[in-house]
Amino acid sequence: MKAVVINQFGPPEELTMTEIDRPEINEDQVLVRIVAAGINPVDTKVRAGTSGMSKRIQLPAVLGWDMSGVIEQAGKRVTDFQNGDEVMGCIGFPGLGNAYAEFTIADPNVLAKKPRNISFDEAAAVPLAGLTAYQAINEHLKVTAGQNILIQAAAGGVGHLAVQFAKLNEAFVSGTASDRNEKFLKSLGLDHFIDYKKEKFETKVSNLDAVLDAMGGDVLYRSIACVKRGGVVGCLPSSTKNDPRAIEMAKEYDVKLLWPMMHTDGSQMKIIAGLLEQKKLRVFVEKIFTIEQIAWAHKAIESHSTKGKVVVRIAD
Ligand SMILES: NC(=O)c1ccc[n+]([C@@H]2O[C@H](COP(=O)([O-])OP(=O)(O)OC[C@H]3O[C@@H](n4cnc5c(N)ncnc54)[C@H](OP(=O)(O)O)[C@@H]3O)[C@@H](O)[C@H]2O)c1
Repeated sequence: MKAVVINQFGPPEELTMTEIDRPEINEDQVLVRIVAAGINPVDTKVRAGTSGMSKRIQLPAVLGWDMSGVIEQAGKRVTDFQNGDEVMGCIGFPGLGNAYAEFTIADPNVLAKKPRNISFDEAAAVPLAGLTAYQAINEHLKVTAGQNILIQAAAGGVGHLAVQFAKLNEAFVSGTASDRNEKFLKSLGLDHFIDYKKEKFETKVSNLDAVLDAMGGDVLYRSIACVKRGGVVGCLPSSTKNDPRAIEMAKEYDVKLLWPMMHTDGSQMKIIAGLLEQKKLRVFVEKIFTIEQIAWAHKAIESHSTKGKVVVRIAD
């Protein structure tokens, strides 16, 4: 089968199209014929060798975790899915998901059926960012009705979904992005748009209940200062974990500081799929690349300026 491997960690050009054997499932697994793979910042960090996850990966490796596709073969003991089902999920995380390939093995416990009203490209875009946003808003920040919250990098993969989860919880939601994304974010329900290139967000918000920060560093420090005593900040980039200055500031401002880590969860994946099907949640895919263009998909994510999500089409 066709697959994209990396033989060593490095730039996007390390992503190499090749032929490998089709994997074989056990009785508890499913074989998925992949239609599309979603690209996340973690894909690029693992490929570059800069993620903690890179250390646990044996090369050559097939990367990719987010995928949508069709079940080619369901193991004998699999009860929830059958051959021909259209599915989506974040697979193999934080090990290897092998989603940059024509076929991959998946644990059915992390899958959901693809909503009929969205495309395979849209379905592949959702899992990792969707679970991250869902867990951040509901499990970590515990956002409730009437709360005043800020989402940093609101137009990104995680941010644009987090805005919608926070609105579903009836919070008042502010978000930062550049001006080209104002209309987009307002269409998702954002209450208060802040153009981070033209204005300092700390002059626009204060006394917040919570911040979801997809940036880290200086944005994280300035975010902590905007939260009320007893409030909470969740910072997503794991490279910033345990930043001593942020920990010191959180103590000083009496703010709970968290570094949420996404975990795969089939029941939450099904809730998210349900919200997509009911049109209560919308995923935006800015760019769809072919499998041959996968290096460009990684470069797009590394630009840190994509709106919504980037997807690679594996098959038609
Ligand atoms: N802990 C976890 O489990 C977990 C899970 C998922 C992701 N993450 C991490 O979270 C981060 C975000 O992920 P993502 O998928 O959302 O990234 P992404 O889609 O690549 O984010 C791109 C967005 O960032 C915005 N942006 C760039 N600089 C900004 C700034 N200074 N202020 C506000 N917005 C800015 C851009 O908006 P403009 O184009 O308008 O500038 C763009 O829309 C990454 O570091 C990722 O690794 C962690």
